[in-house]
Amino acid sequence: MNPGVTIRNETGADVDAITDVTIEAFKTLAISNHTEQFIVEALRAAKALAASLVAEVDGRVVGHVAFSPVTISDGTRGWYGLGPVSVLPEYQRQGIGTTLIRAGLARLRKLDARGCCLVGHPGYYRRFGFENVPGLAVEGVPQEVFFALPFDGHPPQGIVAFHDGFTAAGHSDRAALAPDDTRTADAHGDSSTTRS
Ligand SMILES: CC(C)(COP(=O)(O)OP(=O)(O)OC[C@H]1O[C@@H](n2cnc3c(N)ncnc32)[C@H](O)[C@@H]1OP(=O)(O)O)[C@@H](O)C(=O)NCCC(=O)NCCS
Repeated sequence: MNPGVTIRNETGADVDAITDVTIEAFKTLAISNHTEQFIVEALRAAKALAASLVAEVDGRVVGHVAFSPVTISDGTRGWYGLGPVSVLPEYQRQGIGTTLIRAGLARLRKLDARGCCLVGHPGYYRRFGFENVPGLAVEGVPQEVFFALPFDGHPPQGIVAFHDGFTAAGHSDRAALAPDDTRTADAHGDSSTTRS
């Protein structure tokens, strides 16, 4: 891990910085709808952030990753979706995203999660052990960009639905969205089909 980077849980004081980091990270990404900051806010408001970690450099939040529960049509529980994950452009390609994701996956394992999945770029997530799993999919999402990592080596089969927060597309009152200390998302919440 980069010795200048601290990974820690988000606090109420980080909310605006996380929004800004998310906006900046996705600003120039062609495949983005530029709604990722709203997704993070919606997940927080729904208390669906099973883990929300920030990367800090010299006291500044420069990266963030969110994890939230998903549902799977075969009834498998304990799975989480990774995303959005963001690193400020000027801090990208320095290992910060990798450090954040590894820390988040370790956190999920401590929560006794059974696995993690995401929709993302095929070139990035295999390094963490994510793979395309035949028979496990998200409706409307090409199989080659849906990745799963079963912590016990046994992937479920079925249709994965991300949390409703992933449909968020509008701005909310920042002040009303500060996290509290009772962030305990489980894997049984309402969900919808969308992408991380
Ligand atoms: C994706 C992101 C979080 C990675 O963070 P990071 O700190 O730059 O990543 P790291 O430095 O740990 O890893 C860099 C590696 O990831 C690769 N990489 C980074 N972003 C990538 C992307 N979008 N697609 C493919 N590879 C990517 C780099 O090529 C580099 O590969 P290498 O190690 O083989 O050279 C960051 O680039 C980002 O915020 N991007 C914009 C938002 C985004 O795309 N989020 C993910 C949506 S699926």
